[in-house]
Amino acid sequence: MSIATVILAAGQGTRMKSARAKVLHTVGGQPMILRAVQTAECIGADCLVVVVGHQAEAVAQAVSSRAQIVLQKEQLGTGHAVLQAADLLRDKSDLVVVMYADMPLLRPKTLQQLVEAQRANAEGCLTMLTVTLPNPHGFGRVVRAPDGSVAAIVEEAECTPEQSAIRELNAGVYVFKAAWLWQALRRIQPKSKGEYYLTDLIEIAVAEGQRVIGIEASDPDEVIGVNTRVHLAEAEAILRRRINEQHMLNGVTLLDPATTYIEESVRIGADTIIYPNVHLRGKTIIGEGCVIESNSVIVDSHIGKACRIVASVIEGATLEDHVEIGPFGHLRQGAYLCEGVHLGNFGEVKNARLGRRTRMGHFSYIGDAEIGEDVNIGAGTITVNYDGVRKHKTIIGDRAFIGSDSMLIAPITVAEGARTAAGAVVTRDVPADHIAVGVPARMRRWQKPELEAPET
Ligand code: UD1
Ligand code: CA
Repeated sequence: MSIATVILAAGQGTRMKSARAKVLHTVGGQPMILRAVQTAECIGADCLVVVVGHQAEAVAQAVSSRAQIVLQKEQLGTGHAVLQAADLLRDKSDLVVVMYADMPLLRPKTLQQLVEAQRANAEGCLTMLTVTLPNPHGFGRVVRAPDGSVAAIVEEAECTPEQSAIRELNAGVYVFKAAWLWQALRRIQPKSKGEYYLTDLIEIAVAEGQRVIGIEASDPDEVIGVNTRVHLAEAEAILRRRINEQHMLNGVTLLDPATTYIEESVRIGADTIIYPNVHLRGKTIIGEGCVIESNSVIVDSHIGKACRIVASVIEGATLEDHVEIGPFGHLRQGAYLCEGVHLGNFGEVKNARLGRRTRMGHFSYIGDAEIGEDVNIGAGTITVNYDGVRKHKTIIGDRAFIGSDSMLIAPITVAEGARTAAGAVVTRDVPADHIAVGVPARMRRWQKPELEAPET
């Protein structure tokens, strides 16, 4: 049986008190509308439609080519919203799944169960998801018939005191027989405020003698509908717990899962230890046996094995194995640190490669540079990469020694094994066997003494 899925995302979300449409608010770093689209994609719908209205352009842009877009010009209720997809979807599928875009935690598995139940429901035209909650505030109440089928959904505003007490609620996910849905939608009568409730379809089906099946969600967390920012924070916390539990089961130690913020897209190797208040985002991959200490934020970066990162911000960077950073390091786009690099406090690296075992201990900036192996970058070194118009490159050869507070005015090359003296402002290339001295630096011959005191 072919399936079409309709996601309702036209509402304003007044209760969010936001200039941004509700479905564009993010949970786990992803707009809610994209979470809904992703869930729908998982069940392999043959046709996927998103109904937009409030801030239609912005919502459609977020969806991009992942679904067809239908406009609901006036937000006249959930029933009216589904009707907008009728012309596009009539005769296109055997079943139609309808879901709301404000349910960011719904699992594909649950949606699949609902589809299966409707496939097996030969005498009925619809199956819906319900949930039992201690606090039903805001949900439509599910009224059951004596035989256990669903008799009606009553919206909170229309509830009798008796119905108000019902704890089984409408989650907001439905699977319909397509042929029935498209004709029945036209029979929904508007409420006093002129709204057409999708939920009235249940009574319409029951009046025809159709059996409506209500399947109860086994995990109430899944069906949280985000109407306010309080719900948004709840959804965020539940998702965080789900993600963090999975990492812990995979062998990652989280010292305090409640304050560890890991987006779904992140991968982490076993035996890595993560301290509280760490944020891992985007396409980040972390190897095995790392230690990520508090107040680190890592975005779209690859971290090798056995690295140690302390209170640092790492964005778009790559670290090979056994790299140490921080406290207070900042790696930006294109930073590439080879095996065994040590970056101490207040180091910043952008669009630069640091060769194996190179050390940069204290407050330095390396940008647009190519640094060899075993280089020592003294405290306060700066690659002066920008002349106000263009960026220029710095090249430092293997085993070079850059004295503290050196300014390397790019473009510039420091040869293998060459040196700069403390405080040098280096405006010309430093040849091999030379040390650059002074301001602007002059070149003097320099040779490694026979016996050099060990570095500390
Ligand atoms: C709805 C259900 C309620 C259920 C609850 C679950 C109806 C009438 N009520 O109430 O039974 O318990 O969800 O969370 O369906 N939308 C449109 N166009 C509109 C109106 C809404 O696209 O004209 C979209 C919204 O963007 C939203 C979804 O439909 O994604 C649900 O609308 P919302 O106003 O949040 O409905 P609830 O009051 O939560
Ligand atoms: Ca809602």
